[in-house]
Amino acid sequence: MTTIPVDIAGRPYEVRIGAGLLSDLAGQCGARLRKPRVPIITDANVHAAWGATVTASLTAAGHEPVWRILPPGEASKSWSQLAATVDWLLAEEVERGDHILALGGGVIGDLTGFAAAIIKRGCHFIQLPTTLLAQVDSSVGGKTAINTAAGKNLVGAFHQPSLVLADLDALGTLPRRDLAAGYAEVVKYGLIADAGFFEWCEAHGAALIAGDAEARAHAVSVSVTAKARIVAADERETTGQRALLNLGHTFGHALEAECGFSASLLHGEAVALGMVLAARYSARLGLMRGQDADRIAAHIAEAGLPARLAELGLACDGAALTAHMLHDKKMDAGTLPFLLMRGIGAAFLAADVALDDVAAFLDVELAG
Ligand SMILES: NC(=O)c1ccc[n+]([C@@H]2O[C@H](COP(=O)([O-])OP(=O)(O)OC[C@H]3O[C@@H](n4cnc5c(N)ncnc54)[C@H](O)[C@@H]3O)[C@@H](O)[C@H]2O)c1
Ligand SMILES: [Zn+2]
Repeated sequence: MTTIPVDIAGRPYEVRIGAGLLSDLAGQCGARLRKPRVPIITDANVHAAWGATVTASLTAAGHEPVWRILPPGEASKSWSQLAATVDWLLAEEVERGDHILALGGGVIGDLTGFAAAIIKRGCHFIQLPTTLLAQVDSSVGGKTAINTAAGKNLVGAFHQPSLVLADLDALGTLPRRDLAAGYAEVVKYGLIADAGFFEWCEAHGAALIAGDAEARAHAVSVSVTAKARIVAADERETTGQRALLNLGHTFGHALEAECGFSASLLHGEAVALGMVLAARYSARLGLMRGQDADRIAAHIAEAGLPARLAELGLACDGAALTAHMLHDKKMDAGTLPFLLMRGIGAAFLAADVALDDVAAFLDVELAG
């Protein structure tokens, strides 16, 4: 097991990464579980795959797990599921010193974290991430949110978990498409600031996706270490450092919005293509070598992720995509922070990107 500290001032916590953590759930949580009844929020897929393991560990330690099982999918990050979940937790008489368990991917983690943030003005929660995306990204850092009619993740809170247990065994039951989508966020850490890790991804990414346990352990550890460092330095995204984590996300968000945030394009798939577009746009501006952008695109394609805008078959033009960018929640006083690259491992926040030029670039990319 690897333990990575997240050194947030006043609220430090650990991310533990290893195989078998869910089988040892009660032992891992220790005295944090201070009552017999333990509330756990999950979705139906995760419950089917891991519910029995979690129940066995908790009951063997004298606990009684009480489950709230939500429908799988992004639609569960809603006002109605939030309200119902909060009411359920209040009926369970959760107190501020208690810990709620979030067992699942980013959808369950974001919803449960937000519920924990607002119950009695904040109670504890433990992240048990079961997707690669959740293990390397969403379970760490304390961003919680739901979606509303106005857009994704527009209502939420910063609320850090007390503990994150990333069980690598959980990845064994994850569908391949979700695994590849999560892998996009792994590659992201290489592209942001770690060229050596991008090279490692080129050498080991295929093995990781195919199931190589050592490769998975290494990738999750490197990713969490990178995220923990950035979050500890800039918890609330005020100094610009945390904004680096949005590499590929401005383009990606526009693509997700154009696809109606539907299952036709998963978040990680949109980010993968978004990172290729950020690289290609950086090359167009003369910031980065074209061959480096090609290298990124080749690796994304090799992972089975979309690497060319034309392949999505979108029936829109570049201006329609940049219009979505204007509704990005990162928009601040009329300017949109745009992440570009000076090379692999050298992402930076560009202040002066002209959206009409981005639209012209996207028109070329849409045409193939
Ligand atoms: N808070 C943050 O910092 C942050 C960062 C990135 C993404 N997110 C959010 O995360 C969400 C996406 O998360 P996700 O990609 O984990 O999606 P998800 O939670 O929808 O999980 C993907 C699918 O995999 C299934 N699943 C999960 N674990 C499984 C397992 N071990 N075995 C079998 N099936 C399993 C789920 O039921 C679901 O169908 C989005 O809502 C996004 O906004 C949040
Ligand atoms: Zn993301």
